[in-house]
Amino acid sequence: MASTIDNQILLKLDDKSYLPALGFGTYAPKESEDDVYEAVRVAIKTGYRHLDCAAIYRNERAVGQAIKKSIVEDKVTREDLFIVSKLWNSCHRPDLVRASLKKSMEDLGLQYLDLYLIHWPTGLKEGGEFIPRDEKGNVLYSDVDYVDTWKAMEDCVDEGLVKYIGLSNFNSEQIQRILDVARIKPVINQVECHIYFSQEKLIEFCKARGIVVTAYSPFASPGHKSIPFTPCLEEPVIVDIAKSKGKAPSQVILRFLLQRGMIVIPKSVSPKRVIENFQVFDFELTDEEMKKILALNKNHRINTEDIALAHKYYPFNIEF
Ligand SMILES: NC(=O)c1ccc[n+]([C@@H]2O[C@H](COP(=O)([O-])OP(=O)(O)OC[C@H]3O[C@@H](n4cnc5c(N)ncnc54)[C@H](OP(=O)(O)O)[C@@H]3O)[C@@H](O)[C@H]2O)c1
Repeated sequence: MASTIDNQILLKLDDKSYLPALGFGTYAPKESEDDVYEAVRVAIKTGYRHLDCAAIYRNERAVGQAIKKSIVEDKVTREDLFIVSKLWNSCHRPDLVRASLKKSMEDLGLQYLDLYLIHWPTGLKEGGEFIPRDEKGNVLYSDVDYVDTWKAMEDCVDEGLVKYIGLSNFNSEQIQRILDVARIKPVINQVECHIYFSQEKLIEFCKARGIVVTAYSPFASPGHKSIPFTPCLEEPVIVDIAKSKGKAPSQVILRFLLQRGMIVIPKSVSPKRVIENFQVFDFELTDEEMKKILALNKNHRINTEDIALAHKYYPFNIEF
């Protein structure tokens, strides 16, 4: 799956390119744009070269300013960075895709993106709010087929606006529908994955088709989502393994996901934790430790996207 260059695990995207398997998440709904700016500055200084962004995070300008400053002040070039953004659900109509990508590029201050994902298979009514609602508060859906959205994503690659395209929160049947028509294959499916949601079947499905999986919410989003179990970072098996290795529980969890051949994109705005989360290349988990952690799985999804429950393309009604 991987090669190691400069102490970072890199995952192969195609015959030419690799991407850093440890990325930096930028979804920070409770934090200010200044906090996000500072966090991205620390992340790039620390060595993260892969940033996970999205239009819906509403902070791409702050991320872009941090990238710009880092290019001026730190020894990093645009080409060193792997920048990801995502097409929001209210822009699935094919004629809106290019403009949405251009808006993210403009906010991020970039001439091209490395990867652009369809954020969810579930389109929302186009042309207005991020989450459009009727006067009764019901969320308004779009019936655009994500397969048609995909064709517009491919046009963006042809035009040189983005190097790679991919998916997020798609189930196996939805991925297969894309593969059946794709001129340009999705390289990534970005999905929730943590110790309580191991996603083994979906990962196997993706691997067999040459699609790399990105694990989002690797700590199950503490402080943001609640879970009916011991928080991931306090889970006794994780804590014991961490103690035995002189590492933090967060580092054991990230290492576990990386050793499964995934990309992982932890978010933090605390400089100490941004640095801690990067220090995962100086130790290894044994097969036995990997098995013990895998056994913690409870098939528990936290990001159920309830606004799309009644959508015809809601992705989580089938097993994987
Ligand atoms: N495609 C999608 O639909 C989707 C959905 C969700 C997330 N994502 C992406 O995945 C990224 C990560 O997911 P997430 O933000 O939901 O959750 P996460 O990375 O599992 O957890 C982030 C939370 O954990 C805390 N934390 C981080 N490192 C820590 C450490 N070493 N020790 C203790 N606490 C720590 C952070 O607090 P502090 O900030 O205070 O450190 C933050 O509250 C997002 O930022 C986003 O880029 C994508």
